[in-house]
Amino acid sequence: MWNDTAVTRMLGIKYPIIQAPMAGGPTTPELVATVSNVGGLGFLGAGYMSADSIRAAIRRIRELTDKPFGVNLFIPDKNIQLDNGIVNSMRHHLKTLGQFGEEIVDEIDSIPVGNTLGDDFDQQMEVILEERVPIFSFTFGCPTREEIEKLKERGIRVIGTATTVAEAMKLNRVSVDAIVAQGYEAGGHRGTFLGFDESSLIGTIALVPQIVDRVNVPVIASGGIMDGRGIVACLALGASAVQMGTAFLVSSESGAHPKYKKAVLNSRDTETVITTAFSGKPARGIRNAFITLMQEYEAPIPPYPIQNTLTRPMRNWAARQSNPEFMSLWAGQTSALSREASASEIVQRLIQETEQVLSSLAQ
Ligand SMILES: Cc1cc2nc3c(=O)[nH]c(=O)nc-3n(C[C@H](O)[C@H](O)[C@H](O)COP(=O)(O)O)c2cc1C
Repeated sequence: MWNDTAVTRMLGIKYPIIQAPMAGGPTTPELVATVSNVGGLGFLGAGYMSADSIRAAIRRIRELTDKPFGVNLFIPDKNIQLDNGIVNSMRHHLKTLGQFGEEIVDEIDSIPVGNTLGDDFDQQMEVILEERVPIFSFTFGCPTREEIEKLKERGIRVIGTATTVAEAMKLNRVSVDAIVAQGYEAGGHRGTFLGFDESSLIGTIALVPQIVDRVNVPVIASGGIMDGRGIVACLALGASAVQMGTAFLVSSESGAHPKYKKAVLNSRDTETVITTAFSGKPARGIRNAFITLMQEYEAPIPPYPIQNTLTRPMRNWAARQSNPEFMSLWAGQTSALSREASASEIVQRLIQETEQVLSSLAQ
């Protein structure tokens, strides 16, 4: 059976379909629990959440499901330098971009950035350990072998994210249980942690088999997978599961802003770009006015997470105003294939389509 894979056996799930963690609101406890309840794996994107809200979300998920689920965090980069000149120039620039109003302009001027450099990561990790979440995944970095062992000792399965073969091999050396191979098509932030440049932008169809050949743990394909065709293709490449973000972003249980969902549902194949404008870290999203305006900015953009903090007042304003031109509309290259439905309908349709594709190939 196609759904009996190294990942489904290891994680105790029925289908090798993982709803990607999506930090910033889309992955509500309701979305996570629904996907897990229908036999996939729901994942909470907790990267931006405080330790207390992560704990509350985990408890809510546990009220809604007794099936395995995952929680995902961002590994902080300890080498980030705070350069006040670069920050002040960005504050000045952001204020000139939109009709933001006094309050937002003041907030852009005064929002503190010094305390955003990963100080709360240790507290977030404490919650993961104390709550003994069934599955933990991470992106943007690679913890030490000792840190991974600490999780495994508590019975937590650990999954890392790689965008190149070298990153996958590094994750393999620190003994993660499985590796997400994140292709160029993927929506949201690039997980790249061993130096980002054009050469680390490898498409899913190129990346998955090369990683499969070089590691001794199961590989989870991610990036541009929207339906049964994508699932069968990734299984054929040697993946033991798929991780899908954009497909679930538009589900009724997703917490994404209605205007954001609409932009994804109405998008075309050429509309997404990789930009550092919103957060300082390369991420794929639908092009809007902010991305275009930022192309004129010639000074350096502060690194993640400083730029992310600096654009927060603007993004919150855009959400309140329902103005998608200043929201981060993260989505993958296949966003045009997204379909509005409940998460359980999406998973059920994915299962049916996968079976149809497999039977038509067998004829
Ligand atoms: C809105 C959004 C937010 C995301 N946030 C996270 C995150 O918090 N952690 C993570 O590991 N991946 C995150 N990703 C990337 C996904 O894990 C995955 O690689 C991606 O969605 C796959 O591409 P697809 O969107 O074409 O399915 C995010 C993706 C999107 C679209």
